[in-house]
Amino acid sequence: MSDFTHGFWPIYISVLTLASIIGTWVFLRSQTTRKLAPGEKPELMKHTWDGDLQDLNNPLPRWWLGLFYGTMVFAVVYLLLWPGLGSYPGLLKWTQIGEYEAEVRKAEAQFQPVYAGFMQQDVVTVAANPDARAIGRNLFLTYCSQCHGSDAAGARGFPNLTDGDWLYGGDPDTIRATITDGRSGMMPPMGEALGAQGTKEVANYVLSLAGRPHDAALADVGRPKFAENCAACHMPDGTGMQAMGSPNLTNNVWRYGGAEAAIIESITKGRNGVMPGIDQTLGTTSNKEAKLHLLTAYVYGLSQKQ
Ligand code: HEC
Ligand code: HEC
Repeated sequence: MSDFTHGFWPIYISVLTLASIIGTWVFLRSQTTRKLAPGEKPELMKHTWDGDLQDLNNPLPRWWLGLFYGTMVFAVVYLLLWPGLGSYPGLLKWTQIGEYEAEVRKAEAQFQPVYAGFMQQDVVTVAANPDARAIGRNLFLTYCSQCHGSDAAGARGFPNLTDGDWLYGGDPDTIRATITDGRSGMMPPMGEALGAQGTKEVANYVLSLAGRPHDAALADVGRPKFAENCAACHMPDGTGMQAMGSPNLTNNVWRYGGAEAAIIESITKGRNGVMPGIDQTLGTTSNKEAKLHLLTAYVYGLSQKQ
């Protein structure tokens, strides 16, 4: 595996690296082959400073040369063992990914016993355990917070998990199923069926259901249209249906917005919130069962605070 974008670069880098090592070697050799004959005096350079300071051209000291050659040998051995020459992997086959995976395996072995303890307990018990909640929170921050927020309070389009208002249900089994399989809410676009005026009327009826300011005359006309077009999913009283994740429209909790314009947009264009399943959120991390258990408990606990 190589990160180079073009086959030219690994060759370019290898040639430069090797050429500079060989180049320094040749240069050093060329400067050190001449030894002083017995009795020969080192050459006296022609310049003199500060009146009497003279400069001799002595051969380089052996220990210093030794250090220099040592660095070259080190460079060659290093480049043989580890990756450094273009895409050559090195005899030790070391990779950043390999090192990361080894660290992950070590961490997993370390957490295994901790996880195993929690796996023995049911979700409600685990949810009450502060240590488990701390781990659950970290898992949530890693795998879930990008959509639900670090405080799990959600954002536009992403449900708040702390408010006790559930699209699908807040019991341990349902939360577990949500995290495992993911969810996909399907609110069909109904703008065409209702027309602009009809949509406005139904929207005002929805506003009235939620106890928000609305136009009572429009809402009255909207009521039967709601019964006809919306009640199948949102129930005749508008309280929603968890089996299909159609939200309660009467509690003034909004995921896409409770202003008239936002409700009209929901009705006109439809909505399709997608919660990815565990294979996407937790990917191929191991201890997946334990993480699922701790996450379920953490999410369950979020709305259980007294
Ligand atoms: C890519 C964004 C995304 C990620 C990542 C994500 N979720 Fe979700 N989640 C959603 C959306 C969107 C919904 C609403 C689904 C719908 O509209 O039907 C949702 C719904 C839920 C629900 C159902 C809420 C209810 O009211 O019934 C739970 C529980 C949940 N998520 C927990 C989690 C957990 C735990 C994680 C981390 C493992 C996670 N989510 C990761 C987007 C995400
Ligand atoms: C086929 C079932 C279905 C029908 C019919 C339906 N809805 Fe929905 N509605 C849903 C689902 C499911 C969602 C949640 C979408 C999501 O998860 O992204 C939703 C979401 C909404 C929302 C957004 C709520 C929020 O929290 O922001 C509004 C408003 C809404 N519906 C109103 C209506 C109205 C009014 C009608 C009739 C004109 C209607 N729906 C018809 C299933 C339905």
